[in-house]
Amino acid sequence: MKTSVCIIGGGPSGLMLSQLLHLQGIETVVLERQSREYVLSRIRAGVLEHGFAELMREAQCGERMDREGEIHEGFIIAHNGKQSRVDLHKYSGGSSVVVYGQTELTRDLYEARDRMNGIVIHNAEDVQPHDLTGKPYVTYRQGDEIVRIDCDYVIGADGFHGVSRKSIPKNVLKEYEKVYPFGWLGVLSRTKPVSPELIYARHERGFALCSLRSQVLSRYYVQVPLSDSVEDWSDERFWEELKRRLPEDVAGRLITGPSIEKSIAPLRSFVAEPMRYGNLFLAGDAAHIVPPTGARGLNSAASDIYYLYHALVDHYKKGDDNGLDNYSAKALARVWKAQRFSWWMTTMLHTFPDSLPYDQKLQQTDLDYLFSSEAAQRSLAENYVGLPF
Ligand code: FAD
Ligand code: DHB
Repeated sequence: MKTSVCIIGGGPSGLMLSQLLHLQGIETVVLERQSREYVLSRIRAGVLEHGFAELMREAQCGERMDREGEIHEGFIIAHNGKQSRVDLHKYSGGSSVVVYGQTELTRDLYEARDRMNGIVIHNAEDVQPHDLTGKPYVTYRQGDEIVRIDCDYVIGADGFHGVSRKSIPKNVLKEYEKVYPFGWLGVLSRTKPVSPELIYARHERGFALCSLRSQVLSRYYVQVPLSDSVEDWSDERFWEELKRRLPEDVAGRLITGPSIEKSIAPLRSFVAEPMRYGNLFLAGDAAHIVPPTGARGLNSAASDIYYLYHALVDHYKKGDDNGLDNYSAKALARVWKAQRFSWWMTTMLHTFPDSLPYDQKLQQTDLDYLFSSEAAQRSLAENYVGLPF
Protein backbone atom coordinates (compact mmCIF):
# COMPACT_ATOMS: atom_id res chain seq x y z
CA MET A 1 0.00 0.00 0.00
CA LYS A 2 1.16 3.59 -0.61
CA THR A 3 -0.01 6.83 0.97
CA SER A 4 1.31 10.34 1.59
CA VAL A 5 1.06 10.43 5.39
CA CYS A 6 0.89 7.30 7.56
CA ILE A 7 -0.57 8.10 10.97
CA ILE A 8 0.09 5.69 13.84
CA GLY A 9 -2.71 5.90 16.44
CA GLY A 10 -6.43 6.44 16.00
CA GLY A 11 -7.03 8.57 19.08
CA PRO A 12 -8.17 12.19 18.86
CA SER A 13 -4.78 13.45 17.57
CA GLY A 14 -4.42 10.94 14.74
CA LEU A 15 -8.04 11.12 13.62
CA MET A 16 -8.16 14.91 13.67
CA LEU A 17 -5.00 15.21 11.55
CA SER A 18 -6.25 12.60 9.11
CA GLN A 19 -9.56 14.40 8.72
CA LEU A 20 -7.97 17.86 8.25
CA LEU A 21 -5.48 16.58 5.65
CA HIS A 22 -8.21 14.71 3.78
CA LEU A 23 -10.17 17.95 3.41
CA GLN A 24 -7.07 19.40 1.70
CA GLY A 25 -6.80 16.44 -0.65
CA ILE A 26 -3.80 14.91 1.15
CA GLU A 27 -3.97 11.12 1.47
CA THR A 28 -3.54 9.42 4.85
CA VAL A 29 -3.80 5.97 6.39
CA VAL A 30 -4.48 5.65 10.14
CA LEU A 31 -3.24 2.52 11.95
CA GLU A 32 -4.91 1.81 15.29
CA ARG A 33 -3.90 -1.09 17.53
CA GLN A 34 -7.28 -1.42 19.25
CA SER A 35 -10.82 -2.00 18.01
CA ARG A 36 -13.06 1.01 17.56
CA GLU A 37 -15.28 -0.17 20.43
CA TYR A 38 -12.28 -0.26 22.75
CA VAL A 39 -11.10 3.25 21.80
CA LEU A 40 -14.62 4.56 22.36
CA SER A 41 -14.91 2.90 25.77
CA ARG A 42 -12.02 4.87 27.28
CA ILE A 43 -13.32 7.72 29.44
CA ARG A 44 -10.87 10.59 29.41
CA ALA A 45 -11.03 14.33 28.73
CA GLY A 46 -14.12 16.40 29.24
CA VAL A 47 -13.00 19.99 28.90
CA LEU A 48 -12.01 21.41 25.50
CA GLU A 49 -10.36 24.76 25.06
CA HIS A 50 -11.64 27.24 22.52
CA GLY A 51 -8.85 26.41 20.01
CA PHE A 52 -9.63 22.70 20.07
CA ALA A 53 -13.32 23.38 19.45
CA GLU A 54 -12.35 25.58 16.48
CA LEU A 55 -10.23 22.77 15.06
CA MET A 56 -13.21 20.39 15.33
CA ARG A 57 -15.27 22.87 13.31
CA GLU A 58 -12.49 23.27 10.74
CA ALA A 59 -12.42 19.47 10.44
CA GLN A 60 -16.18 19.60 9.70
CA CYS A 61 -16.80 17.63 12.89
CA GLY A 62 -18.14 20.36 15.17
CA GLU A 63 -21.86 20.10 14.54
CA ARG A 64 -22.81 17.75 17.41
CA MET A 65 -20.27 19.38 19.73
CA ASP A 66 -21.90 22.74 19.08
CA ARG A 67 -25.36 21.26 19.64
CA GLU A 68 -24.70 19.08 22.68
CA GLY A 69 -21.56 20.53 24.27
CA GLU A 70 -21.86 23.09 27.05
CA ILE A 71 -20.06 26.43 27.04
CA HIS A 72 -18.49 27.13 30.44
CA GLU A 73 -17.47 30.67 31.28
CA GLY A 74 -16.07 29.96 34.72
CA PHE A 75 -15.34 27.33 37.38
CA ILE A 76 -15.12 27.13 41.17
CA ILE A 77 -12.11 26.46 43.39
CA ALA A 78 -13.19 25.28 46.87
CA HIS A 79 -10.51 25.89 49.51
CA ASN A 80 -10.38 26.57 53.23
CA GLY A 81 -14.18 26.65 53.60
CA LYS A 82 -14.52 29.12 50.71
CA GLN A 83 -15.84 28.69 47.18
CA SER A 84 -14.11 31.15 44.86
CA ARG A 85 -15.17 31.49 41.24
CA VAL A 86 -12.69 31.96 38.40
CA ASP A 87 -14.42 34.12 35.81
CA LEU A 88 -12.87 32.77 32.61
CA HIS A 89 -14.97 34.95 30.37
CA LYS A 90 -14.11 38.19 32.15
CA TYR A 91 -10.41 37.48 32.59
CA SER A 92 -9.64 35.89 29.23
CA GLY A 93 -11.11 38.65 27.12
CA GLY A 94 -14.43 36.91 26.44
CA SER A 95 -13.26 33.33 25.88
CA SER A 96 -14.64 30.10 27.38
CA VAL A 97 -14.24 26.32 27.29
CA VAL A 98 -16.53 23.61 25.92
CA VAL A 99 -17.58 20.64 28.05
CA TYR A 100 -17.84 17.74 25.60
CA GLY A 101 -16.49 14.26 26.24
CA GLN A 102 -13.45 12.88 24.44
CA THR A 103 -15.52 9.75 23.74
CA GLU A 104 -18.11 11.78 21.83
CA LEU A 105 -15.50 13.80 20.00
CA THR A 106 -13.66 10.64 18.95
CA ARG A 107 -16.96 9.14 17.77
CA ASP A 108 -17.60 12.29 15.66
CA LEU A 109 -14.12 12.05 14.13
CA TYR A 110 -14.58 8.33 13.29
CA GLU A 111 -17.94 9.07 11.69
CA ALA A 112 -16.44 11.85 9.58
CA ARG A 113 -13.63 9.54 8.45
CA ASP A 114 -16.22 6.90 7.49
CA ARG A 115 -18.34 9.44 5.60
CA MET A 116 -15.35 10.45 3.51
CA ASN A 117 -14.12 6.89 3.00
CA GLY A 118 -10.99 7.61 5.03
CA ILE A 119 -8.76 4.60 5.69
CA VAL A 120 -8.62 3.75 9.40
CA ILE A 121 -7.25 0.26 10.03
CA HIS A 122 -8.20 -1.19 13.42
CA ASN A 123 -6.61 -4.13 15.25
CA ALA A 124 -3.30 -3.37 13.51
CA GLU A 125 -0.77 -5.40 15.47
CA ASP A 126 3.02 -5.00 15.75
CA VAL A 127 2.99 -1.60 14.03
CA GLN A 128 6.57 -0.60 13.25
CA PRO A 129 7.96 2.44 11.44
CA HIS A 130 11.12 1.87 9.32
CA ASP A 131 13.81 3.89 7.53
CA LEU A 132 12.73 7.16 9.12
CA THR A 133 15.71 9.14 7.87
CA GLY A 134 15.41 7.74 4.33
CA LYS A 135 12.30 6.56 2.44
CA PRO A 136 9.99 5.73 5.29
CA TYR A 137 7.52 2.86 5.49
CA VAL A 138 5.41 1.31 8.20
CA THR A 139 4.62 -2.37 8.67
CA TYR A 140 1.85 -3.99 10.70
CA ARG A 141 0.42 -7.44 11.14
CA GLN A 142 -3.18 -8.41 10.62
CA GLY A 143 -3.65 -12.06 11.49
CA ASP A 144 -0.80 -13.89 9.72
CA GLU A 145 -0.29 -11.22 7.11
CA ILE A 146 2.40 -8.52 7.30
CA VAL A 147 1.33 -5.39 5.46
CA ARG A 148 3.72 -2.65 4.30
CA ILE A 149 2.71 0.99 3.80
CA ASP A 150 5.14 3.24 1.92
CA CYS A 151 4.73 6.94 2.67
CA ASP A 152 6.40 10.36 2.66
CA TYR A 153 5.88 11.02 6.37
CA VAL A 154 5.03 9.04 9.50
CA ILE A 155 3.04 10.72 12.27
CA GLY A 156 3.43 9.23 15.75
CA ALA A 157 0.05 9.94 17.37
CA ASP A 158 -0.01 6.69 19.32
CA GLY A 159 -0.18 8.02 22.88
CA PHE A 160 2.25 7.66 25.75
CA HIS A 161 2.69 3.87 25.40
CA GLY A 162 2.98 3.85 21.62
CA VAL A 163 5.77 2.59 19.37
CA SER A 164 6.65 5.85 17.57
CA ARG A 165 8.61 7.63 20.28
CA LYS A 166 10.46 4.38 21.01
CA SER A 167 11.70 4.23 17.42
CA ILE A 168 13.74 7.43 17.87
CA PRO A 169 17.34 6.52 18.81
CA LYS A 170 18.11 7.04 22.51
CA ASN A 171 21.03 9.36 21.77
CA VAL A 172 18.69 11.70 19.86
CA LEU A 173 15.75 11.81 22.26
CA LYS A 174 15.80 13.66 25.57
CA GLU A 175 13.00 12.86 28.01
CA TYR A 176 11.89 15.05 30.92
CA GLU A 177 9.65 13.42 33.48
CA LYS A 178 8.02 14.07 36.83
CA VAL A 179 5.87 11.40 38.47
CA TYR A 180 3.47 12.53 41.19
CA PRO A 181 2.97 10.35 44.28
CA PHE A 182 -0.79 9.93 43.68
CA GLY A 183 -3.45 9.22 41.07
CA TRP A 184 -7.02 10.24 40.27
CA LEU A 185 -9.82 7.80 40.88
CA GLY A 186 -12.57 8.76 38.43
CA VAL A 187 -16.23 7.75 38.49
CA LEU A 188 -18.77 8.32 35.75
CA SER A 189 -22.41 8.16 36.85
CA ARG A 190 -25.77 8.75 35.25
CA THR A 191 -26.73 11.43 37.73
CA LYS A 192 -27.42 15.14 37.55
CA PRO A 193 -24.16 17.04 38.14
CA VAL A 194 -23.84 18.61 41.58
CA SER A 195 -22.96 21.99 40.10
CA PRO A 196 -23.51 23.69 36.74
CA GLU A 197 -19.81 24.68 36.79
CA LEU A 198 -16.78 22.48 37.58
CA ILE A 199 -15.60 22.49 41.20
CA TYR A 200 -11.90 21.90 41.90
CA ALA A 201 -11.62 21.20 45.65
CA ARG A 202 -8.48 21.42 47.74
CA HIS A 203 -8.81 19.44 50.97
CA GLU A 204 -6.40 18.03 53.54
CA ARG A 205 -7.72 14.51 52.78
CA GLY A 206 -6.80 15.07 49.12
CA PHE A 207 -7.96 16.85 45.98
CA ALA A 208 -11.44 16.29 44.48
CA LEU A 209 -13.03 17.42 41.22
CA CYS A 210 -16.70 17.64 40.27
CA SER A 211 -16.99 17.62 36.50
CA LEU A 212 -19.66 16.57 34.03
CA ARG A 213 -20.32 15.34 30.53
CA SER A 214 -23.93 16.56 30.26
CA GLN A 215 -26.83 17.49 32.52
CA VAL A 216 -27.51 13.78 33.12
CA LEU A 217 -23.94 12.48 33.21
CA SER A 218 -21.50 13.38 35.99
CA ARG A 219 -17.76 12.80 36.22
CA TYR A 220 -16.14 12.97 39.65
CA TYR A 221 -12.55 12.42 40.75
CA VAL A 222 -10.74 11.99 44.08
CA GLN A 223 -6.98 11.96 44.65
CA VAL A 224 -5.83 8.50 45.81
CA PRO A 225 -2.46 6.97 46.75
CA LEU A 226 -0.70 5.12 43.93
CA SER A 227 -0.95 1.90 45.95
CA ASP A 228 -4.79 1.91 45.67
CA SER A 229 -6.59 -0.12 43.06
CA VAL A 230 -10.14 0.23 41.71
CA GLU A 231 -11.16 -2.89 43.70
CA ASP A 232 -10.39 -0.98 46.91
CA TRP A 233 -13.12 1.51 46.07
CA SER A 234 -16.74 0.42 46.23
CA ASP A 235 -19.18 3.02 44.93
CA GLU A 236 -20.26 3.67 48.51
CA ARG A 237 -16.73 4.38 49.66
CA PHE A 238 -16.13 6.66 46.69
CA TRP A 239 -19.23 8.81 47.34
CA GLU A 240 -18.46 9.03 51.09
CA GLU A 241 -14.90 10.17 50.40
CA LEU A 242 -15.96 12.66 47.75
CA LYS A 243 -18.51 14.21 50.13
CA ARG A 244 -15.91 14.59 52.88
CA ARG A 245 -13.70 16.63 50.53
CA LEU A 246 -16.43 18.95 49.25
CA PRO A 247 -17.88 22.03 50.96
CA GLU A 248 -20.83 21.03 53.18
CA ASP A 249 -23.54 22.62 51.04
CA VAL A 250 -22.16 20.95 47.88
CA ALA A 251 -21.89 17.55 49.63
CA GLY A 252 -25.46 18.00 50.89
CA ARG A 253 -26.88 18.30 47.39
CA LEU A 254 -24.69 15.65 45.71
CA ILE A 255 -26.82 13.07 43.93
CA THR A 256 -25.14 9.66 43.97
CA GLY A 257 -25.84 6.57 41.88
CA PRO A 258 -24.16 3.45 40.54
CA SER A 259 -20.86 4.05 38.74
CA ILE A 260 -20.91 3.20 35.05
CA GLU A 261 -17.12 3.53 34.79
CA LYS A 262 -14.43 3.64 37.44
CA SER A 263 -10.70 3.91 36.80
CA ILE A 264 -7.47 5.19 38.32
CA ALA A 265 -5.11 7.41 36.32
CA PRO A 266 -1.60 8.01 37.72
CA LEU A 267 -0.44 11.62 37.46
CA ARG A 268 2.64 12.31 35.39
CA SER A 269 4.34 15.20 33.61
CA PHE A 270 6.45 14.16 30.62
CA VAL A 271 8.02 15.78 27.56
CA ALA A 272 10.13 14.17 24.83
CA GLU A 273 12.39 16.40 22.73
CA PRO A 274 12.70 16.82 19.79
CA MET A 275 9.27 16.04 18.35
CA ARG A 276 10.76 15.26 14.94
CA TYR A 277 13.20 12.59 13.85
CA GLY A 278 13.86 12.46 10.10
CA ASN A 279 10.44 11.95 8.52
CA LEU A 280 8.73 11.01 11.79
CA PHE A 281 6.73 13.65 13.65
CA LEU A 282 5.35 13.03 17.15
CA ALA A 283 2.03 14.58 18.20
CA GLY A 284 -0.12 14.58 21.35
CA ASP A 285 0.41 12.16 24.23
CA ALA A 286 3.08 10.32 22.22
CA ALA A 287 5.37 13.29 22.90
CA HIS A 288 4.04 14.82 26.12
CA ILE A 289 1.78 14.08 29.08
CA VAL A 290 0.42 16.43 31.73
CA PRO A 291 -1.35 15.66 34.98
CA PRO A 292 -5.07 16.13 34.28
CA THR A 293 -5.49 19.12 36.63
CA GLY A 294 -6.32 22.08 34.41
CA ALA A 295 -7.46 19.95 31.46
CA ARG A 296 -4.41 20.54 29.23
CA GLY A 297 -3.73 17.06 27.74
CA LEU A 298 -5.98 16.98 24.74
CA ASN A 299 -5.55 20.68 24.34
CA SER A 300 -1.77 20.38 24.00
CA ALA A 301 -2.40 17.75 21.36
CA ALA A 302 -4.59 20.24 19.49
CA SER A 303 -1.78 22.72 18.90
CA ASP A 304 0.56 19.96 17.68
CA ILE A 305 -2.08 18.93 15.16
CA TYR A 306 -2.69 22.52 14.11
CA TYR A 307 1.03 23.14 13.44
CA LEU A 308 1.53 19.79 11.69
CA TYR A 309 -1.55 20.22 9.54
CA HIS A 310 -0.42 23.63 8.28
CA ALA A 311 3.16 22.44 7.82
CA LEU A 312 2.06 19.46 5.72
CA VAL A 313 -0.32 21.58 3.64
CA ASP A 314 2.53 24.05 2.98
CA HIS A 315 4.77 21.15 1.96
CA TYR A 316 2.28 19.52 -0.43
CA LYS A 317 0.65 22.66 -1.82
CA LYS A 318 3.51 25.18 -1.93
CA GLY A 319 6.64 23.07 -1.66
CA ASP A 320 7.48 25.09 1.47
CA ASP A 321 9.14 23.04 4.24
CA ASN A 322 9.58 25.80 6.78
CA GLY A 323 6.63 24.59 8.85
CA LEU A 324 7.99 21.03 8.97
CA ASP A 325 11.48 22.25 9.84
CA ASN A 326 10.19 24.48 12.65
CA TYR A 327 7.51 22.07 13.91
CA SER A 328 9.37 20.64 16.88
CA ALA A 329 10.55 23.99 18.27
CA LYS A 330 7.19 25.65 17.74
CA ALA A 331 5.15 22.81 19.24
CA LEU A 332 7.47 22.43 22.22
CA ALA A 333 7.25 26.13 23.09
CA ARG A 334 3.49 25.77 23.66
CA VAL A 335 3.80 22.31 25.19
CA TRP A 336 6.09 23.60 27.94
CA LYS A 337 3.63 26.36 28.81
CA ALA A 338 0.89 23.73 29.24
CA GLN A 339 3.35 21.73 31.37
CA ARG A 340 4.00 24.73 33.58
CA PHE A 341 0.30 25.46 34.01
CA SER A 342 -0.77 21.92 34.86
CA TRP A 343 2.18 21.47 37.24
CA TRP A 344 1.16 24.70 38.99
CA MET A 345 -2.55 23.73 39.25
CA THR A 346 -1.56 20.25 40.48
CA THR A 347 0.88 21.59 43.06
CA MET A 348 -1.56 24.19 44.38
CA LEU A 349 -4.55 21.85 44.75
CA HIS A 350 -3.24 18.41 45.80
CA THR A 351 -2.15 17.03 49.16
CA PHE A 352 1.45 15.82 48.91
CA PRO A 353 2.32 12.96 51.30
CA ASP A 354 5.77 14.33 52.16
CA SER A 355 4.98 18.04 52.20
CA LEU A 356 6.45 20.29 54.87
CA PRO A 357 4.27 22.68 56.91
CA TYR A 358 6.14 25.35 54.89
CA ASP A 359 4.88 23.85 51.58
CA GLN A 360 1.31 23.81 52.91
CA LYS A 361 1.55 27.49 53.88
CA LEU A 362 2.75 28.28 50.35
CA GLN A 363 -0.16 26.37 48.80
CA GLN A 364 -2.62 28.38 50.86
CA THR A 365 -0.80 31.61 50.04
CA ASP A 366 -0.94 30.74 46.34
CA LEU A 367 -4.74 30.48 46.58
CA ASP A 368 -5.06 33.63 48.73
CA TYR A 369 -2.96 35.55 46.23
CA LEU A 370 -4.90 34.15 43.28
CA PHE A 371 -8.23 35.42 44.58
CA SER A 372 -6.85 38.76 45.74
CA SER A 373 -5.18 39.62 42.43
CA GLU A 374 -6.88 40.31 39.13
CA ALA A 375 -3.53 39.78 37.40
CA ALA A 376 -3.25 36.27 38.86
CA GLN A 377 -6.82 35.37 37.83
CA ARG A 378 -6.13 36.76 34.37
CA SER A 379 -3.08 34.50 34.10
CA LEU A 380 -5.07 31.45 35.23
CA ALA A 381 -7.92 32.26 32.83
CA GLU A 382 -5.73 32.78 29.74
CA ASN A 383 -3.98 29.46 30.35
CA TYR A 384 -7.18 27.53 31.12
CA VAL A 385 -9.03 28.68 27.99
CA GLY A 386 -5.84 27.98 26.04
CA LEU A 387 -2.90 30.09 24.92
CA PRO A 388 -3.05 31.06 21.24
CA PHE A 389 -1.68 28.50 18.76
P1 FAD B 1 -4.43 8.80 22.81
O1 FAD B 1 -5.80 9.24 23.15
O2 FAD B 1 -3.68 8.01 23.83
O3 FAD B 1 -4.53 7.95 21.46
C1 FAD B 1 -3.47 7.17 20.97
C2 FAD B 1 -4.02 6.00 20.19
O4 FAD B 1 -2.94 5.23 19.67
C3 FAD B 1 -4.85 5.06 21.04
O5 FAD B 1 -6.10 4.85 20.44
C4 FAD B 1 -4.02 3.78 21.11
O6 FAD B 1 -4.82 2.61 21.17
C5 FAD B 1 -3.21 3.87 19.83
N1 FAD B 1 -1.94 3.14 19.89
C6 FAD B 1 -1.09 3.01 20.94
N2 FAD B 1 -0.03 2.28 20.59
C7 FAD B 1 -0.20 1.92 19.31
C8 FAD B 1 0.58 1.16 18.41
N3 FAD B 1 1.73 0.60 18.76
N4 FAD B 1 0.11 1.00 17.15
C9 FAD B 1 -1.07 1.56 16.77
N5 FAD B 1 -1.85 2.29 17.58
C10 FAD B 1 -1.41 2.47 18.84
N6 FAD B 1 -7.22 16.39 28.43
C11 FAD B 1 -7.88 17.56 28.27
O7 FAD B 1 -7.50 18.36 27.40
N7 FAD B 1 -8.98 17.89 29.02
C12 FAD B 1 -9.43 17.07 30.01
O8 FAD B 1 -10.45 17.37 30.65
C13 FAD B 1 -8.71 15.85 30.25
N8 FAD B 1 -9.10 14.99 31.21
C14 FAD B 1 -8.44 13.78 31.34
C15 FAD B 1 -8.86 12.93 32.35
C16 FAD B 1 -8.21 11.71 32.53
C17 FAD B 1 -8.66 10.79 33.65
C18 FAD B 1 -7.13 11.32 31.66
C19 FAD B 1 -6.43 9.99 31.83
C20 FAD B 1 -6.71 12.19 30.65
C21 FAD B 1 -7.35 13.42 30.50
N9 FAD B 1 -6.96 14.31 29.50
C22 FAD B 1 -7.60 15.53 29.39
C23 FAD B 1 -5.86 13.97 28.58
C24 FAD B 1 -6.36 13.43 27.22
O9 FAD B 1 -7.25 12.36 27.41
C25 FAD B 1 -5.17 12.99 26.34
O10 FAD B 1 -4.26 14.05 26.28
C26 FAD B 1 -5.62 12.58 24.92
O11 FAD B 1 -6.24 11.33 24.92
C27 FAD B 1 -4.43 12.53 23.93
O12 FAD B 1 -4.87 12.12 22.67
P2 FAD B 1 -3.88 11.37 21.67
O13 FAD B 1 -4.69 11.07 20.46
O14 FAD B 1 -2.62 12.13 21.54
O15 FAD B 1 -3.50 10.02 22.42
C1 DHB C 1 -12.01 16.75 33.58
C2 DHB C 1 -10.71 16.41 33.69
C3 DHB C 1 -9.82 17.38 34.08
O1 DHB C 1 -8.54 17.11 34.15
C4 DHB C 1 -10.19 18.66 34.36
O2 DHB C 1 -9.29 19.58 34.76
C5 DHB C 1 -11.48 18.98 34.21
C6 DHB C 1 -12.39 18.01 33.81
C7 DHB C 1 -13.01 15.72 33.19
O3 DHB C 1 -12.62 14.58 32.93
O4 DHB C 1 -14.19 16.03 33.14
